[in-house]
Amino acid sequence: MLRLEDLSVAYGGALPSLRSVSVDVPAGGCVALLGANGAGKTTTLRAISRNLSRHGAKITGGRIHFDGEDLARHSMSDVVARGIVQVPEGRRILGSLTVEENLRIGAARRSRKQAIATRDEVYELFPRLAERQHQRGLLLSGGEQQMLAIGRALMAAPRVLLLDEPSLGLAPIIVSQIAEVIKGINAAGTAVVLIEQNAAMALSVATSAYVLELGSVSLSGSSAELSETDTIQHLYLGHSGEEVPPASPHEQSNVLRPWTDPRSAA
Ligand SMILES: Nc1ncnc2c1ncn2[C@@H]1O[C@H](COP(=O)(O)OP(=O)(O)O)[C@@H](O)[C@H]1O
Ligand SMILES: [Mg+2]
Repeated sequence: MLRLEDLSVAYGGALPSLRSVSVDVPAGGCVALLGANGAGKTTTLRAISRNLSRHGAKITGGRIHFDGEDLARHSMSDVVARGIVQVPEGRRILGSLTVEENLRIGAARRSRKQAIATRDEVYELFPRLAERQHQRGLLLSGGEQQMLAIGRALMAAPRVLLLDEPSLGLAPIIVSQIAEVIKGINAAGTAVVLIEQNAAMALSVATSAYVLELGSVSLSGSSAELSETDTIQHLYLGHSGEEVPPASPHEQSNVLRPWTDPRSAA
């Protein structure tokens, strides 16, 4: 349904941040994009949501297909209207508005009747939000803000939901709740692209995954296959299979960058 084909992206005149990235998201699928800080995960999401130019970046090669159409022809709002909705990095809910008002913003394109029906579903999915519907966003905990950000995206009735590091900064118990919610959303038929540094969480939710390293896909496969690979075990899962903090980009590139003899470059 959604396919990135040899996608390359660069910010300004800088070296490309994405290099020939290919990712396949089948209808109803749940695909994880893993990688350390700076690997290119958010840039991939910005490319899909047509949000690159705001950040001074552009596509320098390749294509994004959605339902067989080239997304490059569409604006950011067109893409949302087609059903690709994102939950951005850092949640970005509106702190001065109430929970209810934040949700309403997500339904800007829908009829009042549809919006009310979806809001009721969102409150069913997140009883905490129902309890706090008249509270301002800034009074919510981090986990509740993440729930609100997901709820707001659901208000737009997405066909594909893009989530950028939903587990970031949240306690393990909240992370498992968020994981269950994402599984539920996917089971109800919405395709999901889950961006995470928390590989243990992402691989427990997604059916397939891609590992980004310095802007390229270094590994991909089913979540089951990837959980078994040495790279994932060492870098992201630790020996016991429990999550450990991911390696910094610096450490990671020392481990994984192929060695080139400096003399051969001369
Ligand atoms: N607004 C920006 N301007 C210039 N470079 C950027 C910008 N945003 C990201 N980059 C660069 O693009 C690369 C990928 O970043 P990003 O997609 O944010 O990675 P991730 O989300 O995996 O942490 C990094 O090298 C980063 O420095
Ligand atoms: Mg990011």
